[in-house]
Amino acid sequence: MVKHDVKDLKLAPKGRLRMEWSQRSMPVLNSIKVRFAKEKPLKGIRIAACLHVTTETGNLMETLKLGGADVRLTASNPLSTQDDLAAALVVYHGIPVFSIKGEDHATYYRHIHSALDLKPHVTMDDGADLVSIIHTKRQELLKDIIGGTEETTTGVIRLKSMARHGVLRYPIIAVNDAQTKHFFDNRYGTGQSTLDGIIRATNVLLAGSIFVIAGYGWCGRGLAMRAQGAGARVIVTEVNPLKAIEAVMDGYDVLPMAEAARLGDVFVTVTGDKSVINGAHFRKMKDGAIVANSGHFNVEIDIPALEKMATSRKIIRDFVEEFTLADGRKIYLLGEGRLINLAAAEGHPAMVMDMSFANQALGIVHLIRNAASLENKVYPVPEEIDRDIARMKLKTMGIRIDRLTPEQNKYLAEWQEGT
Ligand code: ADE
Repeated sequence: MVKHDVKDLKLAPKGRLRMEWSQRSMPVLNSIKVRFAKEKPLKGIRIAACLHVTTETGNLMETLKLGGADVRLTASNPLSTQDDLAAALVVYHGIPVFSIKGEDHATYYRHIHSALDLKPHVTMDDGADLVSIIHTKRQELLKDIIGGTEETTTGVIRLKSMARHGVLRYPIIAVNDAQTKHFFDNRYGTGQSTLDGIIRATNVLLAGSIFVIAGYGWCGRGLAMRAQGAGARVIVTEVNPLKAIEAVMDGYDVLPMAEAARLGDVFVTVTGDKSVINGAHFRKMKDGAIVANSGHFNVEIDIPALEKMATSRKIIRDFVEEFTLADGRKIYLLGEGRLINLAAAEGHPAMVMDMSFANQALGIVHLIRNAASLENKVYPVPEEIDRDIARMKLKTMGIRIDRLTPEQNKYLAEWQEGT
C-alpha cells in the first residue's frame, strides 16, 4: 500500500463508483488520458498536487499517472475532501493521498508537507499553498522544481503579487486564466454548485428570497444568474464601477453592503477579499439571515466579529451554525465560512471540471517542454491549448459550428474594404 493519510480505506469501493460516474462527463480529459497512456509525456516527473480532493480531481490524478508521473495529492481546503474518493485513489490507483474532510489546521499543513516530501518537479496548486510553503518553509525543494500550475483566481492573484515583488522562484502556468477554465468553471460551475451547497445545507426555498451576492466577477455573475433562475430577488454589492454597471444592466439591484445587510435573506461572498461581511453588517441583518462564502479562503466573512457578538452558538444541522446575538436575533453561518460548494456539496460538476483539468494536464506538458525558456513569472495557458480544448469539448458535445470562408478570412485580415 502506498503512503497515505485518509479517513477510511473501506470507503474505497464507493469512491471508485463515484469516480466512474464523474468520468462519464469528462470526455476531453478522457481523450487526454488515452494519449498520455500511449505517449507518456510525464515520464519521470514527480508532481505534488494540492487540489480539492474530489472525484473530478481523482480523474485528473489518474490521467497524470497514466502519463508517467509520480503523483501525490493533498487537499487545498480542510473541508473539501471526499473521503471515499481519497480512499479509492489509494486502494485502486496506488496514488498517495493525504487528506481527511474536516481536518484541523495542523493536520492540513502536515498533509501539505507529506505531499511535498515527494520532492516534486512540478507543483499543482488551487490557492497557492504549496508555492507559499515551499518559498517560506521548504526552500530546499526549490532546486528540483521546474514549475507549477495554479487553478484559481485567488491563487493567481497571490502568485502575480509574488512575481511583482521579485520573490517567485519558479514559473507558474495560470490555468485559471484560460478561457476554457474561467468562462465555464468560475461562472456555470460556481453558479450551480454554490446554490447546491446552500440548498443541501439548509433546504431553504430560494423562490421569493432576497439573495445578496458580494462580488460580480465570473463567480458572482454565474451565481446571480442561477439564483435569479431559482426565483430569488438578487442584490449585488461591488467595489468596481464597471462590474456594478454590468450587474445593473444584467437586471440586478446594486447596493452597498451596509444597505443590503438589512434586506438579505441569504448572503454569499465571492470577492476573493477579506471582511466583506463584517460586524457592522451582522448588526443590521434580519433574524434568520443565512451567510455563506464561495470564495477560496474563509476570510471573506469576519467570523471572529460574529463570534464576539454572539451570546451563544450551536450546530443546528450539518454545515449550519446558529449564532444568537444579544437582542435574540439568530444568524446562520454555513460551512464555517469555507467554500460552501465543496463543504456542503460536491463542488463543480464534472462537465465543467473536464475543461479546467484538461488545461491542468496540457499545461503541465507545456511547462515541462518549455522549462528552459520560462522565467520566474506567471504565464497564461497558451492560446492554442485553450482553443484546442474548446474544440474538443464542442465535439464531445456533438455540436458543430461554421468555418470562415476564404473570402471572410481575407476580409478580416485587410482594412481597405468598407461598406
Ligand atoms: N473546484 C470546484 N469544484 C471542484 C471539483 N469538483 N473538483 C475539484 N476542484 C473543484
